[in-house]
Amino acid sequence: MELRTLSRLAAPAVAALLALTTGCTGDTVQGRPGASGLRDPYFPRAGNGGYQVDHYALDLDYDPADGQLHGTAVITARAEQALSSFNLDLSGLNVKGVTVQGEGARYNRTGNELTVRPAEDLKKGEVFRTEVDYSGKPKALADPDGAEEGWITTEDGAVAVGEPVGSMTWFPGNHHPSDKASYDITITVPRGYEAVSNGELRSRTEGTDGRTVFAWHSPEPMASYLATAAVGRYKVTTGRTPSGVGLYSAVAPAEEAASAGPLGRLPEMVEWGGGRFGPYPFASTGAIVVPAGTLGYALETQGRPVYSGAPSADLVVHELAHQWFGDSVSPKSWKDMWLNEGFATYAEWLWTEDHGGPTAQERFEAFLTGDTDVDEDADKDWAAFPPAAPPGPQDISADPVYYRGAMVLHRIRQEVGDERFFALLRGWAEDHRHGNASTADFTAYAEEKTGRDLKKIWDVWLYGKGRPA
Ligand code: ARG
Ligand code: ZN
Repeated sequence: MELRTLSRLAAPAVAALLALTTGCTGDTVQGRPGASGLRDPYFPRAGNGGYQVDHYALDLDYDPADGQLHGTAVITARAEQALSSFNLDLSGLNVKGVTVQGEGARYNRTGNELTVRPAEDLKKGEVFRTEVDYSGKPKALADPDGAEEGWITTEDGAVAVGEPVGSMTWFPGNHHPSDKASYDITITVPRGYEAVSNGELRSRTEGTDGRTVFAWHSPEPMASYLATAAVGRYKVTTGRTPSGVGLYSAVAPAEEAASAGPLGRLPEMVEWGGGRFGPYPFASTGAIVVPAGTLGYALETQGRPVYSGAPSADLVVHELAHQWFGDSVSPKSWKDMWLNEGFATYAEWLWTEDHGGPTAQERFEAFLTGDTDVDEDADKDWAAFPPAAPPGPQDISADPVYYRGAMVLHRIRQEVGDERFFALLRGWAEDHRHGNASTADFTAYAEEKTGRDLKKIWDVWLYGKGRPA
């Protein structure tokens, strides 16, 4: 409205109108709705604006016999603006009730957005507690690249994998990697089943009602796509790595040989990673091995990756490396995926180099020439697009993000030498520990840390189209 129009209104009406447009009446602050998405370049509706979550307490009850999930999510968050309403992401399931600060709240649902309108507006900076009661049969989602994600049922249970947006199929939340929080995930299952999640098992209680309650605790910040829950008849092994990281692995009985294979080297791999990348970022490690064929991929779920069938040593090293690169240092947006996958792939090259296999230089050359004798993936189309600019959401897990991403790191190593390169890898993990970072953060950091102008590498390998000459 123009001022000229305003001046024709009576003074009280002007005051009221001003109050409406500015959101202020005297000293009571009126909130505005929080944004329904964080404008991620690839998943614009993922996450929500106006608040940041500190903690999720998820209380889940799952019965593999009928596939019904009953959940209570208690979400403690801080308002970043005065809020009249805010959104949570949730796909499928029935919401039975929502409270904010203990008071009944109104809510409605459109698509994957659950909009919550608290009885009273929330003040900027206020820490508030939202409780969502929900139930239903969770439905998995198809990724833009065709992979399945979310709550996936198995022969005798289910497993949850969330990259990039599958976590909204099993709990309401701020489902974008830029909002990390600590978690307590409690899972109740019929007796005889195991329930596995991230972090440490605080308690395992056999109820008198024929059910077992597993209470899992993850104190370190976690992006919601890395949260997991697995229910089934698993064989559990526990232990400790030489440097004292707790180990808890659950292996589907059909995959039992997995524990004797490369997965048995996990403690040794954790020590190796510590030497290469700095202290392991979490209090525990392990694996969840679901029956082969359950998923078309593995996922670096925090502390405890999910494998579909017995993994190879390369894959265990890959998911372990993600604990530093992806889980501890998480991407600011889904465009930054090469910071996860390029690093995890390069970690495989380093492991092989350190254990009597081809050197990273040999791997790099194999990709240049397409020599599949050195690396069976060397003939993949790694040059299809620049790793820092996947064409669309269907490309964030495509070959160039992995292989050309690793090649970017090797180009830096060639340029600055081993000493500076390994200091860079460690420094990156240490300085952004439990945080978020973007590609621009990395390129700036790499130049500062190595004291070199690396613009040519960024232009040609990271952002350049076509095959580098
Ligand atoms: N981040 C996983 C890994 O490399 C792969 C996830 C694949 N997901 C997909 N939609 N293609 O360990
Ligand atoms: Zn990966």
